[in-house]
Amino acid sequence: MTTCGRAQSIFLLLLCLFHDSRQTCPSVCMCISDTVSCSSSGLVRLPSSLPSFSVTLDVSHNHLSWLGPSSLNKMPRLENLWMAHNQISTLSHGAFQNVSGLRYLDLSSNKLNVVEQHYFQGLWRLEELRLFNNKITQVEAGTLNGLSSLKKVYFSFNQITHFPFFSIRDHSHPFLAMLDLSSNRMTRLPWEDVKALPGLVQRGLYLHNNSLICDCSMYSVFWHWSLRGYDSVRDFTDEHTCNIYGDPRASIRFFSQNRFFLNCSVEKSFLQPVTVLLSNLLVLDGDRVRLDCQTSLTGADLEFTWLSPKKDFITLTSINDTLISMFSNGTLEINKISVNDSGLYLCTAVDVKQALNATREVNVTVLLPAAESFNTGYTTLLGCIVTLTVILIYLFLTPCRCSYCKQPIATYNHSNLSAVFFSSTRDQSKPEHFKHVAFMEPMMSEEGTEWTTNT
Ligand SMILES: *[C@@H]1O[C@H](CO)[C@@H](O)[C@H](O)[C@H]1NC(C)=O
Ligand SMILES: *[C@@H]1O[C@H](CO)[C@@H](O)[C@H](O)[C@H]1NC(C)=O
Ligand SMILES: *[C@@H]1O[C@H](CO)[C@@H](O)[C@H](O)[C@H]1NC(C)=O
Ligand SMILES: *[C@@H]1O[C@H](CO)[C@@H](O)[C@H](O)[C@H]1NC(C)=O
Ligand SMILES: *[C@@H]1O[C@H](CO)[C@@H](O)[C@H](O)[C@H]1NC(C)=O
Ligand SMILES: *[C@@H]1O[C@H](CO)[C@@H](O)[C@H](O)[C@H]1NC(C)=O
Ligand SMILES: *[C@@H]1O[C@H](CO)[C@@H](O)[C@H](O)[C@H]1NC(C)=O
Ligand SMILES: *[C@@H]1O[C@H](CO)[C@@H](O)[C@H](O)[C@H]1NC(C)=O
Repeated sequence: MTTCGRAQSIFLLLLCLFHDSRQTCPSVCMCISDTVSCSSSGLVRLPSSLPSFSVTLDVSHNHLSWLGPSSLNKMPRLENLWMAHNQISTLSHGAFQNVSGLRYLDLSSNKLNVVEQHYFQGLWRLEELRLFNNKITQVEAGTLNGLSSLKKVYFSFNQITHFPFFSIRDHSHPFLAMLDLSSNRMTRLPWEDVKALPGLVQRGLYLHNNSLICDCSMYSVFWHWSLRGYDSVRDFTDEHTCNIYGDPRASIRFFSQNRFFLNCSVEKSFLQPVTVLLSNLLVLDGDRVRLDCQTSLTGADLEFTWLSPKKDFITLTSINDTLISMFSNGTLEINKISVNDSGLYLCTAVDVKQALNATREVNVTVLLPAAESFNTGYTTLLGCIVTLTVILIYLFLTPCRCSYCKQPIATYNHSNLSAVFFSSTRDQSKPEHFKHVAFMEPMMSEEGTEWTTNT
């Protein structure tokens, strides 16, 4: 062999080695034992060749826009595929062909639109699927079919309006313990399908921050979960909102504003239905007011406790006040109610024998008498000022001080509940004003909201 020939073959060998190593680990990536990291490398498509023995491939934070068929053909050992923060809008048929060992797939923060049935087919070992923060509007019915190893699926921060809950069953997804559908656009859920979800899935179902319409079937399901202390409900109590009559402007936090669920039958801790009743009451300052505590519970053995807006507990025995009285049937009477007594009065009736309790809420609004004739209020005010001026002039011009001038116009009673006004216009003998206004329309959706399932 000539020197020239030897040099040539060495050159070819080097070229070959060089070429091989380029094929094995792309220059923009880092290949570390079983992991290839090509994150934030400005990639617009997957490198044509990647180490075939890799278990983990990280191509997150790039500009990938699609995943073609057999893209990962030559990586049979792949288990973790990280593709978050790209521009992927579609996955072609067979994109995950030959990577059936995939266990962790992160496609979050991409541009996926419709999750097609074929996307993840064959990934029967897949345990975690991250699809949050895409542009997903639709999840096709069979999408999760065959993904029998799934443990966690994240769909939050998309625009999903419907989800195929019916496709998730005990036998099809025995390990699924997290299904995150929060922050989407669902208005009505097929609650019967939701209630038929395996217990493990329900426990890990996140539905907060959707556009749910307030109704009894919705409320009773969330109530059921809250009784069981599920994390989804406990950790995101305030994010659980619904829209009254579907109006997005009338969004309420339904765990704290449960009075909107008038007459909804919800399950009690003892799997007994209980009814929350609410009424609004508009009265005038100085009125005698009676609040009854009629709840779904009836019987002679009930004990009643009222909670005033100032968070004072009032029971039959705690009353030490002439201004408040309570009857054994739970009715609370406030003799002269003042503006400061406005607020939500909550009565709890407890059936000690049956270990049941039910509540009633009354939202009392006390108006000053002036508000009665609002249109004449201005003239009244003017009259008052004139009168006051005359009185002041009289007081200053009168040499002696009369004793009754010092008579207090207001005294404060020991009760936290009621402050007394000595008002000349309304006295104790005046009949009570019971002006029931704005009873919330019942939002009954179905009768069968008593939901007793196994725990
Ligand atoms: C990929 O899978 C197909 C069939 O599913 C098979 O014919 C092909 O040989 C596989 N390719 C590799 C590189 O394993
Ligand atoms: C609720 O969802 C909207 C989009 O649907 C999102 O912009 C908002 O940040 C979410 N709020 C919370 C508290 O997650
Ligand atoms: C709601 O409850 C109240 C009090 O029990 C009852 O008078 C009313 O008829 C109920 N409304 C409906 C729709 O059931
Ligand atoms: C009731 O109130 C009076 C005076 O306000 C007080 O002396 C008395 O101890 C109170 N009784 C009870 C049982 O609280
Ligand atoms: C409770 O008892 C009082 C006094 O006996 C009565 O005036 C009131 O009407 C009763 N309330 C109800 C709801 O029956
Ligand atoms: C009502 O409350 C306001 C502010 O808390 C207080 O200034 C006022 O004196 C109270 N009025 C009565 C009658 O107690
Ligand atoms: C209602 O009943 C449950 C169970 O007996 C009890 O833990 C709870 O404190 C009761 N609620 C009220 C307000 O009495
Ligand atoms: C009670 O009613 C008043 C007036 O209708 C309303 O402004 C207030 O928010 C209500 N309070 C509660 C706790 O619902």
